[in-house]
Amino acid sequence: MVSLDQIVEDAKRDFSSAVDAAALEDAKARYLGKSGLLTERLKALGGMSVDERKSAGAQINQAKSAVEQALLERRQSLSNAVMLERLSAEAIDVSLPGRGQSSGSLHPVMRTWERVEAIFHSIGFDVADGPEIENDWFNFTALNSPENHPARSMQDTFYVDGKDSTGKPLLLRTHTSPIQVRYASEHVQRFAAQAVMPPIQVIAPGRTYRVDSDATHSPMFHQVEGLWIGEDVSFADLKGVYTHFLRTFFETDQLQVRFRPSYFPFTEPSAEIDMAFSSGRLAGRWLEISGAGQVHPNVLKNMGIDPERYMGFAFGSGLERLTMLRYGIEDLRLFFENDLRFLAQFPA
Ligand code: FA5
Ligand code: MG
Repeated sequence: MVSLDQIVEDAKRDFSSAVDAAALEDAKARYLGKSGLLTERLKALGGMSVDERKSAGAQINQAKSAVEQALLERRQSLSNAVMLERLSAEAIDVSLPGRGQSSGSLHPVMRTWERVEAIFHSIGFDVADGPEIENDWFNFTALNSPENHPARSMQDTFYVDGKDSTGKPLLLRTHTSPIQVRYASEHVQRFAAQAVMPPIQVIAPGRTYRVDSDATHSPMFHQVEGLWIGEDVSFADLKGVYTHFLRTFFETDQLQVRFRPSYFPFTEPSAEIDMAFSSGRLAGRWLEISGAGQVHPNVLKNMGIDPERYMGFAFGSGLERLTMLRYGIEDLRLFFENDLRFLAQFPA
């Protein structure tokens, strides 16, 4: 039978010739595993007399400790070697130039949003906000589109689970017009004690949703609502204000713009505003940018405003459409594909 000293020696040799952790574990199994050499010796103790067992057991345990010690040392030196190798492989060349930070930029539609706010702010308009999940009253009924009114089908609507306090379904707002009603109603309450209501002059930019999808329609898009109500705010003011806005936004007076008669339940008379692309392949092609008109008396009543005394205009313009015209972009789906080759063309 091989002596214990020989086993210890063999183990030490096998461990030190193991080239990596896996080889070392294989070698360990040969000595300390379930049927390893030392384990077998320990098992054999069962067949010995008490005295024999005492001295043989002590010797085997001593050999076992020596083997375990050798195993630990080899494990440590192998892992040191791995670490050293990694350290030298991952060395940093401090003489290389830095990579630099690539800076992002605002999305082109957001730039339009900011420009629109700045322009209207400069001519005295407040900026308002409202919820994207609306109820039936603010999105339709208060805007003179009662239930079953055929004009409701002009906007193909996303309904969401949940009902408002009157049991009507909630929906993703189809336009920013509900903010008109919310803002105006608050304004009326705020100035209820005054003999004359100060004019309402507000824009409301935000996200809107419809079941729409093609080169000029997206299911999620942005509108900016405008509302100006006072004692003598006419359709001529609408034309003046909107034309001023377009000239400032596009930084030129050479614009092809037309007000085309149209229909909305919440305005009378109503118009849609179209503008032509100015240059390039798209030059001369008309694109609708906005709905507009004089606020309907029924809507004023729903806001708590006396239509015999006050009047004014409203408009609702597409921010994607304005952006398409500004940069000559043919298909608005490009705005939502997150392709950096497209977006990087609008640096900060
Ligand atoms: C409306 O939404 C009316 N609320 C506008 C309005 C406000 C009229 C106040 C009168 C008074 P319309 O559905 O035409 O109208 O949409 C207005 C503008 O939003 C369009 O001219 C277009 O620029 C933009 N738009 C409409 N649908 C989409 C869409 N799916 N994707 C991108 N832009 C859209
Ligand atoms: Mg329209």
